[in-house]
Amino acid sequence: MKKLRCGVSGLGRGRTFVERLNGIEGCEVVAVCDPDARKVAEFGDLAGYTEYETMIGEAELDMVAVIGPGPTHAPQALHALRSGVHVISETPCVYLLEEAQAIVEAVRATGCKYMLSEDYIFMGWVQHWKALVEAGELGEIVAGQGEYTHDCRGMFVVGPEGNYLPWSERGREGVRPSWRASHLPPLSYCSHTLGPLLYLMQDRCTTVTAFDSGSRTYPEAGTIDYASAVLKTEGGRVITLTNGFGVAHPFIFFIGLIGTKGSLRCVSFNFGDAQTRMYLDRDGGGWQELTGVWFERPDGRHWLSVLLEAFVQSIRENGQPPIDVYESMDYTLPGICAHLSAARGGERVDIPDYRT
Ligand SMILES: NC(=O)c1ccc[n+]([C@@H]2O[C@H](COP(=O)([O-])OP(=O)(O)OC[C@H]3O[C@@H](n4cnc5c(N)ncnc54)[C@H](O)[C@@H]3O)[C@@H](O)[C@H]2O)c1
Repeated sequence: MKKLRCGVSGLGRGRTFVERLNGIEGCEVVAVCDPDARKVAEFGDLAGYTEYETMIGEAELDMVAVIGPGPTHAPQALHALRSGVHVISETPCVYLLEEAQAIVEAVRATGCKYMLSEDYIFMGWVQHWKALVEAGELGEIVAGQGEYTHDCRGMFVVGPEGNYLPWSERGREGVRPSWRASHLPPLSYCSHTLGPLLYLMQDRCTTVTAFDSGSRTYPEAGTIDYASAVLKTEGGRVITLTNGFGVAHPFIFFIGLIGTKGSLRCVSFNFGDAQTRMYLDRDGGGWQELTGVWFERPDGRHWLSVLLEAFVQSIRENGQPPIDVYESMDYTLPGICAHLSAARGGERVDIPDYRT
């Protein structure tokens, strides 16, 4: 079997993708790209590039993982698709509706595979909840809730060489806002909560109303501190989402599923099994704590490896990626439309579906 030639763009989180992709049978990372030449040099045995377009033009890739700063994802994905290269993209996969439409059109025109790398869906707890939902423990799902609030001020300022600096360094000469401060409206990063909710509900959002709290923490960068949205789904359910990164609030990840016969809650005080609690209510009988290993999967495999393997398989077999281009947009566009709604003072915004 000829190995798939993979490239990775962005060598922060992208390093994990180099490792995980190389761990998949029939895959080989042959090229990496980052504007920071020092990071590229650390992968001396691979073809290294500081310009993405040059990597796509020269490295003869079958697929690329687009893992740089958020605003680079859609332009880089489009460039690869139009060059006949399959794409897996980190979240948020788009910032604009026009980008989403262009990606859908490029996938249709080229037949290339495209997938949002929404890894939370592949974690052990989501698979466990899926089994409870399918067993009818919740009855009919009525509503969902999601919150991702996390003090990210430690990643809000960068020095002249692009390295993150402590929050206290802001305002010093040569120090500027990072992309996380200037280009990450909180609800654009909604897929870690909304993705699992929609996956478990088998639904999509059709319309949203949202508000944000403006910019108090880092107004010089235009950082939006905190935002909340109410969404209606095609199946008539309601979802509430809250995200905030520019606030003094340690990590909280929260998900709730509310049904006619039971409800589920997950709250994580830090990313990891020891700091995560899950509760199930059966028919109003009271919260029962569920015990088990949560982020890890029962099969012992890492969730990102399972996700990447499934994407690679869809390329090999010319099948559907586990999160196809339309689902990728279902998990992302509600947050983009929420940002539009908040900017218009809470005006209701319809969420496009590019399937039709
Ligand atoms: N799924 C998850 O759990 C998860 C976790 C962390 C980060 N992320 C997402 O992954 C992406 C990367 O996050 P990160 O923590 O590595 O960010 P980061 O800011 O730490 O690193 C980004 C890297 O991309 C490089 N870069 C800058 N411009 C580039 C370009 N045009 N092309 C290629 N590389 C470029 C930078 O030099 C840097 O090495 C973000 O979109 C983030 O939202 C997802």
